[in-house]
Amino acid sequence: MEEVSSIKTLPVKTGSVRAGEIFSSRLGVLTATLGSAVGLGNIWRFPYLTGSNGGAAFLIIYLICTVLVGIQVMVGEQMLGRAGKGNAIAALRALAPGKAWWLVGAAGVISAFLIMGFYSEVAGWVFAYIFKSLSGSILSTDPQVTTQAFTSLIANPTQSLVWQWIVLAVTGGILLFGVTKGIERTTKTLMPVLFLLLILVGIRSLTLPGAAQGLTYLFKPDFSVITADTFLEALGLSFFKLSVGMGCMMTYGSYFRSDQNIPTTATRVALADLMVSLMAGIAIFPAVFAFGFKPESGPSLLFITIPAVFASMPLGNVFMVAFFVLTAIASIGAMLSLLEVIVTFFNQQLGLNRKLSVVLTAAALAVFGSAAALSNSTLANVKILGLTFFDLYDYMSSNVLMPLGGLLISVFIGWIWGYPNIRKALSNEGMLKNERVIGMFFGLIKFVTPALIVIVLLNKLNIL
Ligand code: PHE
Repeated sequence: MEEVSSIKTLPVKTGSVRAGEIFSSRLGVLTATLGSAVGLGNIWRFPYLTGSNGGAAFLIIYLICTVLVGIQVMVGEQMLGRAGKGNAIAALRALAPGKAWWLVGAAGVISAFLIMGFYSEVAGWVFAYIFKSLSGSILSTDPQVTTQAFTSLIANPTQSLVWQWIVLAVTGGILLFGVTKGIERTTKTLMPVLFLLLILVGIRSLTLPGAAQGLTYLFKPDFSVITADTFLEALGLSFFKLSVGMGCMMTYGSYFRSDQNIPTTATRVALADLMVSLMAGIAIFPAVFAFGFKPESGPSLLFITIPAVFASMPLGNVFMVAFFVLTAIASIGAMLSLLEVIVTFFNQQLGLNRKLSVVLTAAALAVFGSAAALSNSTLANVKILGLTFFDLYDYMSSNVLMPLGGLLISVFIGWIWGYPNIRKALSNEGMLKNERVIGMFFGLIKFVTPALIVIVLLNKLNIL
């Protein structure tokens, strides 16, 4: 307690300048962090997981996971990153010198490789689809034609690789400009565009005759389909959605100013991210049902059903271009943060300069990701644990490494770093009077968050 009361007497620093680059404004922090959270997870994963796992029933479980786990880990990571002034490895080394906690950061770099491995491929398909919808080549109301178009894209090794490389070149190109001029400026410009396009497509979808059935599919609660797997799915989704459990938010936290209110920022980001997910569901399902299509799951929804749906509506090609552009924007913001984790590894741990680190990251990902890119062609029959590289990368990151990372981070914060440090960090050294928020965070991160992750993981193991 003594330590706690002495905090108030510490000199207060505002907006202190650090050695490295930091985000230049609060808005920039918000758009960069939201840019990381919003991504293919909202448009490609959230709608089908919700629709196929009991609608509102899944949504409730997802919200519980987000409030009790996702947001808390996000606050925790940003706090550690800012306090430790570096990426996950550097921050944990600084905050727990001589201990093995930095390994959590190292696992985060592996997660970033795994996620980018498959994510850059899906983003590649999205980029390809912008051009295909512009040229009208995928505009057909016949799902067989759109299936054929998608299959020929993913089964073609050259196209798969080239689109992935284009994605890596674009994302790496932005990162060459650095944190402020690259990440911050890009997300500040693109996030409003994403919102506008999403509203546009959403209104179009909702005003179609028969739209209500899609809303029913998305929101009608069906508790009968909830199993232990559903909980792991929801937890994994909440980690993936909020970009937590793999050091990404620690890296971004190290770019936060010292007067940034972290709990408020994290809550706003989580809320806005949820809104984008719901809006994506509202943009997709009413249109799918209005034209009598079946809501398929996974990639086929985005790349097979959606083109056929758009082809069925007046001005469909315009809306389809809008839809794939907004999806591409969403994926770019997320990939900037994923690449940044690896870039800072080369930069901060291996001491390479930033530009070289960016180039090496993109090159390493082109090699590592090619196994996922070729999962539908050359390497389709190569399976590990029964999964192709694409599925393996996805499963290992969302359902294994991120929950484990989140568990270790919350244990570190609640049990090792402790209340006095948390209080100092989250009150911005006494500048903010947010004691109740800090108290709540401490209670959750010490007991509730780790307990929930352990229960979900154990539950899953028993089922297997
Ligand atoms: N949050 C991103 C999405 O929903 C994915 C992501 C995961 C980004 C982990 C960074 C880190 O698409």
